[in-house]
Amino acid sequence: MSARRHSIKVAVVALITAICVGEVVIMFLLDRFGPFTPIVEAVIDSVLLVAIALPVVIAAIYKPMARNLDSLIESEFLVKEDERIIREDAIEREALLDELDYAATKISERENQMLALLNSLALAKDYETGGHVIRTQKYLTLLAYRLQEMDQFQEVLAGSKIETLSKVAPLHDIGKMGIPDAVLRKAGALSDDERKSIEAHTLIGESILSAAEFGDMADGDLITIAIKVAGGHHERWDGSGYPRGLVGEEIPAEARIMAVADVYDALVSTRPYKRQWTHQEAVAEIVAKKNIHFDPWVVEALLLEEQNFLKVAAEFA
Ligand SMILES: [Fe+2]
Ligand SMILES: [Fe+2]
Repeated sequence: MSARRHSIKVAVVALITAICVGEVVIMFLLDRFGPFTPIVEAVIDSVLLVAIALPVVIAAIYKPMARNLDSLIESEFLVKEDERIIREDAIEREALLDELDYAATKISERENQMLALLNSLALAKDYETGGHVIRTQKYLTLLAYRLQEMDQFQEVLAGSKIETLSKVAPLHDIGKMGIPDAVLRKAGALSDDERKSIEAHTLIGESILSAAEFGDMADGDLITIAIKVAGGHHERWDGSGYPRGLVGEEIPAEARIMAVADVYDALVSTRPYKRQWTHQEAVAEIVAKKNIHFDPWVVEALLLEEQNFLKVAAEFA
């Protein structure tokens, strides 16, 4: 039952009781001080009844109503106060989101500046052509989106991680900056020491990029991914790669994708030590090395992306 219905019931009971009591009192008074004419009796009866019933009515109806009105005014004030606080909170939240957006834009700008700087340093050293850098980035991006469609490497390729992976791809051989030119540009066969020196570009790359690493870097951070790619792109699925001889899924997935993109481009390009292979030859070689050099899923992705690989090769030749 609502509070309002309850107070009406109380008021009605109080009023009936007051009228009954009033009538008894009036009858007593008229009997004691009477007799009067009927008109005088009626006037006295009415005046006394009103005098007895009025305070009861005020106490039973008006006071609770006034109390209800007060609490209504109070709750309206509280509602307005709550609305004001909610409005202020929304404004504050919007300002914070704007600040976060601004900070994210600034961070992204700084990242792009850093990447551009590292890329131009790498290109200045001229150990790879600009074409190789762009093509491997495109191949890796094609493979990554295809693998995402195939529901592979879900964690590594979630959200904006493909974009980040694509951004850092050009840095995969950044460590070659630390290799002497005489070794890097040697046209003839390499001695064991020279080969080892070139292989060290993976670890040198890791250490160059680690200089930009600070605090608790999360797994999806740009520098963390760049380090995985630079350090792991020469590892092989069967463990015969370098620098650590990692096996299968021990090799970071980002580096496994980079490996296919990098080797494909090396095969279809002319190098001082090798002729240019055709697309079919390169794909056949990569397929032959599935489960030996390359992650089988990345090879599957390549087979599904062949036409797009050919387009990139033609466009950025
Ligand atoms: Fe490399
Ligand atoms: Fe490369």
